[in-house]
Amino acid sequence: MHAVAIVAAAGSGSRLGAGQPKALVPLAGRPLVAWAVDALFAGGVDEVVVTVPPAERAAFAAALPGTVQLVDGGATRTASVCAGLAAAGPRADVVLVHDAARPLTPPDAVARVLDALAGGARAVVPVLPVVDTTVLVDDDGVVAEAVPRAPLRRVQTPQGFDRATLVAAYAALDDAAELTDDAAVVRAAGVPVRTVPGDERSAKITVPHDLALAELSVGLTAS
Ligand code: CTP
Ligand code: MG
Repeated sequence: MHAVAIVAAAGSGSRLGAGQPKALVPLAGRPLVAWAVDALFAGGVDEVVVTVPPAERAAFAAALPGTVQLVDGGATRTASVCAGLAAAGPRADVVLVHDAARPLTPPDAVARVLDALAGGARAVVPVLPVVDTTVLVDDDGVVAEAVPRAPLRRVQTPQGFDRATLVAAYAALDDAAELTDDAAVVRAAGVPVRTVPGDERSAKITVPHDLALAELSVGLTAS
């Protein structure tokens, strides 16, 4: 099984507000994207394709091993993933789609996704339980009802797919507006999406507090 990972790294990181693309922002001195790529290789993928902001290609090349393929991303995450998928090409049996913004994903979490694909799953996502009470509110912000949380899950990346299944699902997609991840694209095409346990360390860095927590986490692991 030849596994190619696509790392979505072409975003600007406007909510982090670091003044440079989020994937290049350092965590313990190394760019987020370098951490994410290391985790994918350590978890067992064979090749990595990184989608980059076109104007920043040189900075990404300097931050990553020469074996990593760089491709220009698009204006949306969906467009970036499609560019990565085209670059991954038919040599991939399976593809993993990962966010550069999840630098501390443990190799085990990657391996669980690959194992599910090797076992025959066509689509697999890492998930965690919801621990907070979760409610629906009306237009005035008043609680309308509590949502039973036992069946709720938070979905992370890397998400894994049979390559041909993901390519066909993107080709069949009419309107990506409501879809926030790749699993939603294959589900819209009627493909069942399996789940495996995710990991809290795969948390996405979105706002400055998330980066501060990641710095602390790296410091604790190192000491
Ligand atoms: N991404 C991408 N191409 C885009 C937009 C996002 O490859 N056009 C990537 C980001 O680089 C990131 C991942 O998708 O690794 C998840 O997106 P998000 O956390 O929203 O990152 P940004 O879009 O960069 O951040 P923001 O929304 O705060 O601007
Ligand atoms: Mg974004």
